[in-house]
Amino acid sequence: MSDLKRGLSEAVGAAFADLGLPAELARVTASDRPDLADFQSNGALAAAKRVGKNPREIATAVAGRLGADSRLAAVEVAGPGFINMKVTDGALSARATEIAADPRLGAEPVAVPRRVLIDYAGPNVAKPMHVGHLRSSIIGESLKRLYRFRGDTVLGDAHFGDWGYQMGLLIGAVTDERPAIGAVVEAANAAGVPPADISAFEAVSLADLDRLYPEAAARGKADTDYRDRARKITAALQAKQAGYYALWERFRDVTRVALERDFHALGVDFDLWKGESDVEDLIDPMVAELDAKGLLIDDQGARIIRVAREGDKRELPPLLVVSSEGSAMYGTTDLATILDRKQSFDPERVIYCVDQRQADHFEIVFRAAYLAGYAQEGQLEHVGFGTMNGADGKPFKTREGGVLKLGDMIEMTREKARERLHEVGLGESLPPAEFEAIAGKVAVAALKFADLQNFRGTSYVFDLDRFTSFEGKTGPYLLYQAVRVKSLLRRAADEGVAAGPVAVIKPAERDLVLTLDAFNSALVEAYDRCAPNAVAEHAYRLSQAFSKFYAACPILSAEPAVRASRLTLAATALAQLEQALDVLGIGVPERM
Ligand code: ARG
Repeated sequence: MSDLKRGLSEAVGAAFADLGLPAELARVTASDRPDLADFQSNGALAAAKRVGKNPREIATAVAGRLGADSRLAAVEVAGPGFINMKVTDGALSARATEIAADPRLGAEPVAVPRRVLIDYAGPNVAKPMHVGHLRSSIIGESLKRLYRFRGDTVLGDAHFGDWGYQMGLLIGAVTDERPAIGAVVEAANAAGVPPADISAFEAVSLADLDRLYPEAAARGKADTDYRDRARKITAALQAKQAGYYALWERFRDVTRVALERDFHALGVDFDLWKGESDVEDLIDPMVAELDAKGLLIDDQGARIIRVAREGDKRELPPLLVVSSEGSAMYGTTDLATILDRKQSFDPERVIYCVDQRQADHFEIVFRAAYLAGYAQEGQLEHVGFGTMNGADGKPFKTREGGVLKLGDMIEMTREKARERLHEVGLGESLPPAEFEAIAGKVAVAALKFADLQNFRGTSYVFDLDRFTSFEGKTGPYLLYQAVRVKSLLRRAADEGVAAGPVAVIKPAERDLVLTLDAFNSALVEAYDRCAPNAVAEHAYRLSQAFSKFYAACPILSAEPAVRASRLTLAATALAQLEQALDVLGIGVPERM
């Protein structure tokens, strides 16, 4: 089964080949002038340039050959050599029937499935999340669902930042503030065995970490003695000194529980929750191997890998593998993680969905991995993105100037969603638990769609009023449309009205089917460019096409055959819309 656009591309390609022209130039797209045609091909222009002929002549010859295609009601040459095609009602009806019967709603799986690992969110112990983490979570979750829906075997990994300098800072700060904890840690360090009684650690809460980390980070910047001590503690932790390690486990666990809860509320769930610390045991053998391969260079007590290449536009710094204190760095754990993933899952492709500001970091790590033979050139891919900004045009901060807490952001959006639901009169009528569940879905739709409707490279402004509006290009608008169809289908079921074969007649029905047909190409585009916005755009167009269809084509009051056909169209539009939203990580409530 193939979508109309691709089917027609093949037909135009065959006509090109017949005429001795390069078939790959024949590409068919949706028409720029939907009032005149459904599809168009501009290939004659490109072909004319290539072979030095008149484009209109080529277009006319191609059109002549297409005339016999039973799917086409009209083929015309326009302007300098555009080929305009209008498909028959019969071809549209057949395509709609196909999509309606297809569990994949017209979407084709990839020809050769691959093993893909998606590294996204990247939250850290203690360090609060910033907008980069939020965007990574939203985009990464969608990429995971998109790749999986197209048939790849996909694992999503949170790549928990739990092994860096921030851990040394935090251990120092907590032991300074709580002598009782400090004593347990020191005793265990001295004894070289884990503390028998860690009940003192239980007093350390997430709120303590939230409070202490920013203070310690600021002090580490201002005070070199303090920083050196934190670095030493970090190195000792990485050497698994018993007291530090036990306290660190507490930090890690407390943070992770809270993070998982917040991510889950955002509809972001990971297959793997591996930490940087999980590769600790791989680091020494890796360093030895890198050394044996002659890749490591001594640099003022540190060990580095040079990755600059001939022809680089600017000089890339080397990868810092071991610091002068003997610590593993951010890039070291990333390199070891590549090795770890190769051994455990052997991914054919690894996508790092991380803030654009880390582009250099990934370029450096990837080059080192290729040099070391841990991955093949091109297997590792950094998928970056712009920032979510505040009204001041700078990366979004809270009113107090702090970084965002995911939980607070979700609650704030939920609160707005509750208000909106009350505005449309939904609230009093529903049991509180259902109302809350709906508000949660509206909030997730608002945040995710506001992000995913933009190409990821684009920055956008955080505007909760706009994101949560039930009108315009928003997540809640899409939910609202989907819910309208659901209630229509419920009414049909109550009245005992059944769906039946599709017969497309009216322009609004044609448009709806043409939009349904475009689902596959939206998915392909999103997949090829790691750009879920193509799917977001499709979902929006589909709900608009449905809305026009619903306004122009009465359903339940139509005569039986027409009614049955339109019910199939409505049910198919709903199913495809829900599938598209699911790829974006957005769930639809039953009512709202
Ligand atoms: N924890 C990192 C940060 O907060 C992001 C991790 C991204 N993934 C990775 N493999 N480096 O900046």
